[in-house]
Amino acid sequence: MSFGIDDLPVRDELRGKSPYGAPQLDVPVRLNTNENPYPLPEPLVERITERVREAARHLNRYPDRDAVELRTALAAYLTRTAGHPVAVGNVWAANGSNEVIQQLLQTFGGPGRTAIGFEPSYSMHGLIARGTGTGWISGPRNEDFTIDLGAAEKAIAEHRPDVVFVTTPNNPTGNAVPASTVVALYEAAQAAGPSMLVVDEAYIEFSHGGSLLPLLDGRPNLVISRTMSKAFGAAGLRLGYLAAHPAVVDAVQLVRLPYHLSAVTQATALAALEHTDTLLGYVEQLKAERDRLVAELRATGYDVTESDANFVQFGRFEDSHAVWRRILDRGVLVRDNGVPGWLRVTAGTPAENDAFLDAVREIKKEQSA
Ligand SMILES: Cc1ncc(COP(=O)(O)O)c(C=O)c1O
Repeated sequence: MSFGIDDLPVRDELRGKSPYGAPQLDVPVRLNTNENPYPLPEPLVERITERVREAARHLNRYPDRDAVELRTALAAYLTRTAGHPVAVGNVWAANGSNEVIQQLLQTFGGPGRTAIGFEPSYSMHGLIARGTGTGWISGPRNEDFTIDLGAAEKAIAEHRPDVVFVTTPNNPTGNAVPASTVVALYEAAQAAGPSMLVVDEAYIEFSHGGSLLPLLDGRPNLVISRTMSKAFGAAGLRLGYLAAHPAVVDAVQLVRLPYHLSAVTQATALAALEHTDTLLGYVEQLKAERDRLVAELRATGYDVTESDANFVQFGRFEDSHAVWRRILDRGVLVRDNGVPGWLRVTAGTPAENDAFLDAVREIKKEQSA
């Protein structure tokens, strides 16, 4: 027997666990990880090259530890698109919003503390909680995947978590959470805590409604988490950020690694932000494609959860994994998130979505034959 992970003195709570990750299979149509299907436009690729070339000249030095130029550009983007003034002191950036969430849990969670999320939701919240030694509480949802406010308030009052996660639009279900629900959860969290409420807006640019950023006014324990992985089509860049009261930004400084955001990352993100309008143009196309997927899936006889994201949850299946496999057999990779009866498809290019729709129509026909 060879030496393996179980022979190492790893932490008890990590024993027997699997790493997070969707299958990376080499198939013609990959609609399983909520990426943006459009490669970055050539003028932006040029601009990234220019900015990175300039940054390369200074790689003998550590990067700007506080990423001030980048945070200023992110604040300007938020101010313009969310219609709410955001200053550089309200913004913090890290390597993907996963790192933002990790820094938040290192700051406000940790051993002896707990975090709650309303599941099914983004599974990394629970996994990062585990990685940071934070106890995880799985809160309830209604049958239709909306948050059951009464039950959520009750769970917060009972468990008094230090961090509350709300994902809107929610992944994997796609539905948005009303502002009134977030306000009520914030109040419940303050009454039980005070604790932090983290709103994960990774997909907000695809929403029919707006960002909850204006809720930051007068709510110092509220954090809005964002990413450039989805709307900016830059999942490979690894750039996430948060907007919050400046005291929150000060607090995460206590746990961030010095120089965590490389000069190359900062330069690339700045170049992408210069091309915001073009990239948001792709978002409009993806929103239209998402709405088409919803309509076509319904017309084919599938159940579909209301979607404000760049993906759609559809069902219902007795054996969702078997259907996942049958779609894969037709060259299309979707996601089985382990939500019983449901699968999730990311909105791709019109041609990719056609290939997916052809596959699920065929499967439906076979079922009814
Ligand atoms: C809800 C949600 N939050 C955060 C992330 C992480 O994004 P990233 O670390 O790429 O910024 C994802 C990625 O799929 C997500 O679905």
